[in-house]
Amino acid sequence: MHENTTVTKIIRVDRNMPAPAAIREAASIIQSGGLVAFPTETVYGLGANGLHSPAVRKIFEVKGRPQDNPLILHVSSPQQAAELSEGLCDMAITLIDKFWPGPLTVVVKKHPSIPDEVTAGHPTVALRMPDCPVALALISASGVPVAAPSANTSGRPSPVTAQQVLDDLGGRIECVLDAGPTGIGVESTVVDTTGEVCVILRPGGVTREQLEQVLGSERVRHAMEGDRQASPGMKHTHYAPRAEMWVVEGDTGAVVQEIIRLTEERRRGGHRVGILATDETLQHYTADVVLSLGDRNDLSQIARNLYTCLRQFDLHKVNVILAEGFTREGLGEAICDRLYRASGGRVLQAEEELS
Ligand code: TXA
Ligand code: MG
Repeated sequence: MHENTTVTKIIRVDRNMPAPAAIREAASIIQSGGLVAFPTETVYGLGANGLHSPAVRKIFEVKGRPQDNPLILHVSSPQQAAELSEGLCDMAITLIDKFWPGPLTVVVKKHPSIPDEVTAGHPTVALRMPDCPVALALISASGVPVAAPSANTSGRPSPVTAQQVLDDLGGRIECVLDAGPTGIGVESTVVDTTGEVCVILRPGGVTREQLEQVLGSERVRHAMEGDRQASPGMKHTHYAPRAEMWVVEGDTGAVVQEIIRLTEERRRGGHRVGILATDETLQHYTADVVLSLGDRNDLSQIARNLYTCLRQFDLHKVNVILAEGFTREGLGEAICDRLYRASGGRVLQAEEELS
């Protein structure tokens, strides 16, 4: 364990109209090489001066983040993004025009001024302009691109509230700007724009369908095994609660039956079982902890509640989590990806009973 030696200042701000004095205070911490957690539209980020190696190294230290996992540079304008790249390609410009500010991170060829700590030595850099007035004000006032991963301890679910940031990093960072819960709840979509087609390295807030509408379906594809080294973050365990988690996929009726069966089996074995349900299925379950992610047909709501529910299971100290699967359409793809990672790939198919 690391020592907590810093007093973390909590500055409450209005999401849409942050007080200039509050932003100035946080920006001065960034400028002097400190760490500030701040809200974005996706999850809270842990920001540092992205052009200052010692500040960037602190991010890795406090998160316990593997050195080979590069960071996103957050910018407050497309112009600033252009300056951090070796000239933006047409695909990147098209995507930036369409989706910024917003939950899309573009990987482009990096400008030589960017420290190796940010890019983990890669020739590319990930850039994003968040759709959040607090984040944009902080980046502008800092006068530098802000390097920021999600503000969690490495391997834990990303924080969607300031309190969740403090639960992981309180006493280890200088400041958190608290603007209440974030809107989207899962991270940005990361796309590689350095090749012929747009490669989705991490599904997120911008959906594959949205990307296809802009570029055409033949110019968008998912990362394959061989691409993984191009997206170093994907190989590390991620978003994981402390309990062993299983995702059960299939027709909802069959999923419910299978989760009930597994719950009984595990409880007989002496385990504390948590179930990750939806409003539609909640009433069917009895377990040590049963949480609903919300309306199964409202994927925005499901995404918004996902990380908070995973963190709640930790607080309840369950040792097994059984989670319902979701459609892969739209935002469902990011939700399924996070469930897959949280479960370490433990995914079961519920068989429909033959009548
Ligand atoms: O929504 C978000 O993207 C949040 C907020 C704070 O902006 N940030 C975030 O950062 O999720 P992080 O560090 O938790 O995830 C960044 C992802 C990682 O999977 C990393 O490997 C990938 O982006 N990445 C960063 N730079 C890259 C690069 N040059 N090439 C390929 N992948 C890169
Ligand atoms: Mg992260």
